[in-house]
Amino acid sequence: MYVELKNINKSFGNFKASNDVSFGIEKGKLIGLLGPSGSGKTTILRMIAGLETPDSGDIIVNDKVVNNVPASKRGIGFVFQSYALFRYMTVFDNIAFGLKIQKVPENEIKERVLELVKLTGLSGLENRYPSQLSGGQRQRVAFARALAPNPKLLLLDEPFAAIDAKVRHELRHWLKEMIAKLGVTSIFVTHDQDEAIEVADEIIIMNKGGIDQIGNPLEVYSNPKTAFVASFFGQPSIFKDYNKFRRFDPVGEVDQVIVRPEFVKVTKKTETQKYQNSAEEGVVTDVAFRGTGLELTILVNGENITARRRFDQAPIEVGEKVDVFIYRIFATAGDKVYPLENQSLREPVVVI
Ligand SMILES: Nc1ncnc2c1ncn2[C@@H]1O[C@H](COP(=O)(O)OP(=O)(O)O)[C@@H](O)[C@H]1O
Ligand SMILES: [Mg+2]
Repeated sequence: MYVELKNINKSFGNFKASNDVSFGIEKGKLIGLLGPSGSGKTTILRMIAGLETPDSGDIIVNDKVVNNVPASKRGIGFVFQSYALFRYMTVFDNIAFGLKIQKVPENEIKERVLELVKLTGLSGLENRYPSQLSGGQRQRVAFARALAPNPKLLLLDEPFAAIDAKVRHELRHWLKEMIAKLGVTSIFVTHDQDEAIEVADEIIIMNKGGIDQIGNPLEVYSNPKTAFVASFFGQPSIFKDYNKFRRFDPVGEVDQVIVRPEFVKVTKKTETQKYQNSAEEGVVTDVAFRGTGLELTILVNGENITARRRFDQAPIEVGEKVDVFIYRIFATAGDKVYPLENQSLREPVVVI
């Protein structure tokens, strides 16, 4: 492991911001630290960077405990949510800042800055001031500035939170490619699940100062290990009673049942439903347009379920009766979660 956190604890007064946090990152990987606001993500980054001191536990980088190494000596690049560029410095001077502090010779600075300007697609903008740039361009300057001194580790704290949706989307791809190309070990903090799934090689889910789950995005998405993770991911519909839905194995006492749209198949009455016998009838109560298709709200057995329909499928209208088949639900009891698959999926399908 290139970076390792071992049993990190940190309190602010009586508030426990980090609760026995341990994880490791392999060299060159891009890790997503995902969790709701206030779950302790920034505190973790600040401790890794040396801007905050843990109450207990060790932070290890490249086999060395760095707890007592000052921030300026840790070789870490930091990109913040708010661009935090120097307003009265040009793009060139912003990127050159860290190198000037390190007293790197003038000609080397110039060479490095121009290399980064090119890499980040900012050529021609070297002499502009931050106020003369778009949000996306500013964040690319912040990225170039963090990379200039060749950090061993790059920390990005919700870098795209203040940027509009379309540009944010482009920047995610850009960032992922850029980090892969440079091979710099990185931690990317976000509260946006889609962003984490798209960008990160591995995701760490934080909840109330602790880690709930670590895994690759698909694994965490389809096999949540705690009730929190099950309800945090995706766009869940949450119910009390799963006996309302047909054909799921009983698991005893259950607090709540989570149904996610990607595990719901909706068919019109005129279409063939493969698992007709296990489907429920529902009435569409809302249809909303989303980037990738329709988002339907369907009343099934007195409960509203969210489902999706692609644009290339026949449209569905409010008031329409449809068949709803649920592939998988997540039942939670205390902090446990039981993924339950519809029994029909285990039976051979008889086509007449
Ligand atoms: N310097 C501080 N003093 C007091 N409380 C703090 C300080 N820094 C963070 N906290 C508290 O710790 C909790 C976690 O904060 P933070 O790590 O910023 O969460 P996140 O980045 O996930 O939103 C918050 O409730 C916040 O108010
Ligand atoms: Mg934060």
